[in-house]
Amino acid sequence: MMPAPRYRIAFIWFVVLAFAANALPAAERLPGKSAVASASPLATAAGHEILAKGGNAFDAAVAITAALAVVYPTGSGLAGGGFYLLHRASDGRDVMIDAREKAPAAASRDMFLGPDGNPVPGLSLNSALAAGIAGEPAGMEHLVKEYGRLPLAVSLAPAIRLAHEGFPVSPHLRAVIEYKREVFAKQKEVAPIWLRKGAAPALGTVIRQPQLARTLETLAKHGMRDFYEGAIARRLVAGVRKLGGIWTAEDLAAYRIVERAPIVGDYRGARIISAPPPSSGGIVLVEALNILSGYDLAQLDSATRKHLIIASMRRGHRDRAVWLGDPDFVEMPVAELIHPYYAAGLRASIRLDRAMPSAELPGILPAPQGPQTTHFSVLDAEGNRVAGTITLNFLFGSGLVVPGTGLFLNNEMDDFSKKAGVPNGFQLVGNAANEIAPGKRMLSSMTPTFIESPRGLMIAGSPGGSYITGMVLLATLDFLDGRSAAEIVAAPRIHHQYLPDVLQYERDALTPNEIESLTKRGYTLRESKRGWGNLQVITWDYASGRVDAASDPRGEGEGQVY
Ligand code: DON
Repeated sequence: MMPAPRYRIAFIWFVVLAFAANALPAAERLPGKSAVASASPLATAAGHEILAKGGNAFDAAVAITAALAVVYPTGSGLAGGGFYLLHRASDGRDVMIDAREKAPAAASRDMFLGPDGNPVPGLSLNSALAAGIAGEPAGMEHLVKEYGRLPLAVSLAPAIRLAHEGFPVSPHLRAVIEYKREVFAKQKEVAPIWLRKGAAPALGTVIRQPQLARTLETLAKHGMRDFYEGAIARRLVAGVRKLGGIWTAEDLAAYRIVERAPIVGDYRGARIISAPPPSSGGIVLVEALNILSGYDLAQLDSATRKHLIIASMRRGHRDRAVWLGDPDFVEMPVAELIHPYYAAGLRASIRLDRAMPSAELPGILPAPQGPQTTHFSVLDAEGNRVAGTITLNFLFGSGLVVPGTGLFLNNEMDDFSKKAGVPNGFQLVGNAANEIAPGKRMLSSMTPTFIESPRGLMIAGSPGGSYITGMVLLATLDFLDGRSAAEIVAAPRIHHQYLPDVLQYERDALTPNEIESLTKRGYTLRESKRGWGNLQVITWDYASGRVDAASDPRGEGEGQVY
């Protein structure tokens, strides 16, 4: 019943304001605190340093990216690429900067196949041919020019300092250097920095990188275009070609980032904002959540709940293999794949009492097809956010440094489907959509994601290749279940990627009863002794105002709230 006329206007205003307050997007609330979670405490500190200087989350993202290139080159570097998912608080804009590497113009579909028609082992991983044209510097430049507040030189300063002054070798880094020892020993600019008397340096040894510091200083002085068209570009092209690669000056000069609209979905009242193609992440994540939205997971026993999560991962990854690639090259039924009706059809193929083998899923076409990587999450006090996943692909990329630059070359070309049905380094199979073509971006699994729910906000992402999207899916479900940031990053994980048709699990992820119940359903289970991923999560609880930042205990990173 409407109130008396004289109260009517006030009443209408009350309703409008109450509605507006309820519907207020996260962008218009102020966290009042800033937070950073990254794979390295030094990179987290670099982000904080820039926030404290008056930078926003986007400036911090530049500082963190540059710092990671110095102190965490196993995961990412300037001669690599990545995706930056952004949220700008002033206008609520969500956008993804696609700074993914591109195949050089001289690349061709069969470039990694030998005379027998099969991939030459290691060629797409350990050679200069493995390197795509880097996108990370262009991504950083775009962050500074379009979204940041501080000059590039200011945001690069912490990284330059870290490159000059050095940083101590951690247990993880030591293990990875040991793994790459032989490749490093053969390169005269690499061995003196990363090895001591031919061996991996002792823990705590300080690693200084004067050449990388000079490269960063040049970029700070002349801008990131120098990487693509200046002195550094010339050094890169000469160096890559000397190492046997096919980069040209034209490839570098032509590189451009692309701003892409994120994949957006809805799961039980939460808004999912995630990476669009050329990442498969957002589509697989939303498709899996759409499938799961037909069940009340909280009411199910834990084995059935995990069975359904795995069933949704399997189907999402199957569609990745069949449909996805670079949107600038292939037509993809994106709207259909993330449509709730499509998920309803897939749900109909799921039985609660048994697993459906991947081979029984229709549609894989045998046509020509087409602690590594790192993620950081940043939230500033105004509500700007960045979920950045950046990569060289595998550890230290190809392990090859371009002489005179201090930069490790990525081996992202392995993310292409080199031959129909032949698995890549992550055992992922692809289709024509992801075959190599000049100038094309290789399909990625990187899944930088924002989740906005009535409870609050989560910013999340991880390295882990084919495991990434499943990790973000589990993190999303945990967040919506009310878990804290620390619980989310620590929780044991399960995984299925369609092929190989195996349910992988970390120790403690499945109880003996669940193992028995899932085995009865027909799963092939495999325990991973080492685990996977390095999830970096920030959560912001709207009701209490609490902001938390947590870094995966499997890594050596740090989450900090300021
Ligand atoms: O873009 C991708 O999907 C891969 N290049 C990511 C590699 C990765 O996460 C390595 N981490 N273990």
